[in-house]
Amino acid sequence: MPQKSKGRVSGKKSASVRVDAKAFSILDLVKELNSFSVDNYWDLGKFLVDKVMPLARKQGMFEEQVLKMVSNHPGIKFPFSMLKQCQQYYSYYPDVKKRPLAEVFYFDLATKVDETKRRDQYEKMALDSRWTITDLRKKIHDDNMARRMDERTKYGFDLRERNVWTFETPDPRFGRPNFKGRLPGQIVANALFYYTKPGDYIVDPFAGSGTTGDVVETVPTFNDRKVKMYDSEPVSEKITRNNILHTGIPEQSDSVDYIFLDPPAEYTQKDASADFGMGIDAVKADFTLKFKGIVRECTRILKSNGRVSIVIEPSIAVGEFIDFPSEVTGLFREAGFKQVGKVYLPRRSSEGSKGTQTVDEMRGIRLASSDCRELLTYQKN
Ligand SMILES: C[S@@+](CC[C@H](N)C(=O)[O-])C[C@H]1O[C@@H](n2cnc3c(N)ncnc32)[C@H](O)[C@@H]1O
Repeated sequence: MPQKSKGRVSGKKSASVRVDAKAFSILDLVKELNSFSVDNYWDLGKFLVDKVMPLARKQGMFEEQVLKMVSNHPGIKFPFSMLKQCQQYYSYYPDVKKRPLAEVFYFDLATKVDETKRRDQYEKMALDSRWTITDLRKKIHDDNMARRMDERTKYGFDLRERNVWTFETPDPRFGRPNFKGRLPGQIVANALFYYTKPGDYIVDPFAGSGTTGDVVETVPTFNDRKVKMYDSEPVSEKITRNNILHTGIPEQSDSVDYIFLDPPAEYTQKDASADFGMGIDAVKADFTLKFKGIVRECTRILKSNGRVSIVIEPSIAVGEFIDFPSEVTGLFREAGFKQVGKVYLPRRSSEGSKGTQTVDEMRGIRLASSDCRELLTYQKN
């Protein structure tokens, strides 16, 4: 933390540091940086902004590149994040000594608040209400939480903007709590957000506890979609009994916009007793047989440009690694689909992986078991 002092927080070095433009040496730079005291954020930021960055630009390097290069150098005492924060601090507040609050306020504002307008508002509030630094931090934290809640209520669920979707707690509105294999409904909600459009007709052939139906019914964003759920052992009247392996998917050809497939773990996670006497080829053949039928049905019922998502993960069966996501991609490609999405679904910490996978050893090769499913999405041509 920078000192809570309005006076200068001095370090050994100041803006008088000289770096020779002709000989831009990373070693010299590391030495210069290391001569700064670790709590001398503003001077360090000034050095980076005034001296190092112009030199880096002359050499055709990006700012981030230089900071990463320096922070990766052996012996440097500043991690990348700290250099970045110092640079930000000085860039936003080169005039910090003339400002009315203690420096620590500006350091927090520079590193925690992106927009200039919001930083100015916080500065004014801190002055008017005579905040302590704890008050400022609490306010920034509370506002960030409120913004996240706003996002959630805007869409009605926790939207994920990147391709790793982890949800520690399944949203209680979707699916049944004690249903084995229930998917957190937030995963289905995000899938519908990204892969469906208003008015779409959605089919879930492995509906389980009815998570997909609950998402469509409960989340206002999806109320305009229609959904049909099937399962071989339906748990509610909203789900129609159907065994996909026996009778396919009972929908008209070219009638469906989106299919959500969450097949049972047994399709890929073979347990030891089931594997007994079954070679790797037989396991793969069993998988291919099942999934070829499923892919054929998806191809038949989907409209042109219709999409299908599947929850699947690699597995160790009969002591060998099988990349089921890649196998399934091969089958959809063969059927004329193109892949349009890939999202990682790490298991919750409270959730063990399915089946009896452990670290397995086969002919001296160690195989780590999977703790991350994938949500793969394909589009019919
Ligand atoms: C992983 S669970 C689906 C969980 C669901 N997504 C949820 O959140 O509740 C797989 C479901 O597939 C069903 N199932 C297994 N084999 C089936 C088959 N051949 N045809 C249709 N459903 C099947 C199981 O009964 C189980 O409910």
